[in-house]
Amino acid sequence: MTISVADYAVECAEQGLRGNYAVCRPDFTVDQAYDYTAVEQAVWRVLCDRQTKLTEKLAHKTYLDGVKALGLLDRIPDFDVVSQRLKDLTGWTLVAVPGLIPAEPFFDHLANRRFPVTNWLRTDDELDYIVEPDMFHDFFGHVPALTQPAFADFMQMYGATAEKLIAAGGGEMITRLYWYTAEYGLMQGEGEPLKAFGAGLMSSFTELQFAVSDPKAHHVPFDIETVMRTGYEIDKFQRAYFVLPSFAALKGAFEQADLMAIVERHKNAGPLDPAAVGVSRQAAA
Ligand SMILES: [Fe+2]
Repeated sequence: MTISVADYAVECAEQGLRGNYAVCRPDFTVDQAYDYTAVEQAVWRVLCDRQTKLTEKLAHKTYLDGVKALGLLDRIPDFDVVSQRLKDLTGWTLVAVPGLIPAEPFFDHLANRRFPVTNWLRTDDELDYIVEPDMFHDFFGHVPALTQPAFADFMQMYGATAEKLIAAGGGEMITRLYWYTAEYGLMQGEGEPLKAFGAGLMSSFTELQFAVSDPKAHHVPFDIETVMRTGYEIDKFQRAYFVLPSFAALKGAFEQADLMAIVERHKNAGPLDPAAVGVSRQAAA
């Protein structure tokens, strides 16, 4: 049973979350209300300029192609304008939300090719760290990959399947899959250098560099069952990064795996230690 907007608004106020949940529609969306100040526009440019210097070197080509296709860095994006471009490419649109939203409406938006983007931006003393996801994380981090058809399909299928797997006891396992792909995924096609695409990396100045370039980063070939079993870090660098060969491989793995059987096999087991998962490419080299 999903939580009501009114109850969620109370919970968020108690937790000190800064979005205005009192004005949500029943699906937890709000108007973007494009009335950003000159200071907010300046923060957006600083964030984008600084991070683009890194993404040009460390982000996968698919992410950079997405940025180019959406043209999103000069000023705070107008979600309606970007939605039109994204819709033409992969059928996705953006919806504005006040911040984190409950799982059920979040998955419903994904299942219907709507990506929720927070409508407010961090302040200039939060450039390097913010507790809640803000517009920079949601937009700069997540949206470019949604221009890629196979990844766009994966995200839609993920949203459509998540509730069933949660009901079967696979809530943590399905969250790990999102975490290690949409948030912290790396990619390396045949003959290509290792690059990143996950939003948690795209929106992090320090972890993007660590994940791709630091010899201490633990790189593990993507395997959907292993990913669903591997624990993760919330407030420090990940101790494992899974490396996809392509978005098509991610989509194919999701379509072909018997996800319910994976949940049944492992739902009562504790998470695998990320540091012990797979064979480090560095160690194997
Ligand atoms: Fe995210």
